[in-house]
Amino acid sequence: MFNHQSIARRHAIKLGLAGLLGMTTVTTTEAINRGRQTPLRSHPKRDFTVVGQASLKQRAAAKGLIFGAATEQRILLTNTQFANTFVKDCGMLVAENDLKWFTIRSNPHIFDFTKGDWLAKFARTHGMLFRGTPLVWELGLPRWFKKKVNHKNAERFLVEHITKVAKHYAGIVHSWDVVNEAIAVSRSKRSDGLSRSPWLEFLGEGYIELAFRTAAKADPKAMLVYNDRWLDYDTPVGNAQRAAVLKLLERLKSKKIPVHALGIQAHLKARETRFNAEKMRGFLKDVASLGLKILITELDVQDEGLPADSMVRDRIIAAAYEDYLSVVLDEKAVIAVLTWGLSDRYTWLSRTSKRPLLYDSYFQRKLAWNAIARAFEQAPKR
Ligand code: G3I
Repeated sequence: MFNHQSIARRHAIKLGLAGLLGMTTVTTTEAINRGRQTPLRSHPKRDFTVVGQASLKQRAAAKGLIFGAATEQRILLTNTQFANTFVKDCGMLVAENDLKWFTIRSNPHIFDFTKGDWLAKFARTHGMLFRGTPLVWELGLPRWFKKKVNHKNAERFLVEHITKVAKHYAGIVHSWDVVNEAIAVSRSKRSDGLSRSPWLEFLGEGYIELAFRTAAKADPKAMLVYNDRWLDYDTPVGNAQRAAVLKLLERLKSKKIPVHALGIQAHLKARETRFNAEKMRGFLKDVASLGLKILITELDVQDEGLPADSMVRDRIIAAAYEDYLSVVLDEKAVIAVLTWGLSDRYTWLSRTSKRPLLYDSYFQRKLAWNAIARAFEQAPKR
């Protein structure tokens, strides 16, 4: 009777050598899948070879696309090797936390742009585009918010925040997530799926329109994005979330609200096999038919529950990246692929994932990097 672990180990070593070359060999992913409820999608004969030395930003730019990643001032300041890797591969810097309310607004009367300004300067110095997120969200709010903001003054706080922040970065940011995660079908009691947020409670659904109109007035040049998550899979939540987001975008466009793009966060899960390419293509086409651009804004792959062996794990994660991007990049309205972090050392997923990103914790490239590079190589030119 074979011991699957020894088979897995033997083949993982073989895979390990090939994996280092970006090639794959026959593996025993099936053996790893055996006994699992949902077989992992790993295409065992898959080849992750990448030709040439071009960086991700170069491969993206060759197709009229932007590649970038989210990070923080505290990370770039403290780790030169990471900063150099970031500059080499990224054509856009996304402020992961440094432009959030809790960072800028330590108290109701102060706007502290120190961290955001440092990031904007770093991006400018290294020829990168700069992206802000979010202007309005139900989370990431400072501690004083709950005590200070109410039905009477919520509109003033919303308009003042967006005006001051968007004006401060006018002409500097490429795009803003003006409103983030307004839809949450899995927990909303409303037919429109709007998430219970202080903004909805105090201002009604009109807060979304108000946010976009205010941002457009403060920075007429920035691309104004509606950003949301749970849009990726053929699941009851994914199907309902896509439908609700599309309806919201249709409502906003019908009222001539200045929304320019949809941000799809794309926090993927390696073990989730219910990705339906046709449904995704249809959704992207519907969004594009509204005259909207599309950005993949927070791409990463949660790897909870994958085999411990990192060579096998990395291949399954790489397959998830390439399978997803090879579909979404077929839609020419998709203009950017932005990962939520660049290295496993600084991922927000550290509690549930070991190797979700494209560089490991020692800033060594992984097969996920190859997968993204291959997706850019195969993408149609914009
Ligand atoms: O910087 C402070 C530090 O000084 C303090 O000692 C420490 C402990 O309290 O907190 C640090 O701030 C943390 C911050 O991340 C920076 O690391 C906040 O507590 C923590 O809440 C914050 O979490 C961020 C989270 O959004 C909430 O804002 C994650 O890093 C960030 O990756 C995550 O990103 C979100 C997107 O904005 C929206 N889409 C989902 C995505 C994942 O949740």
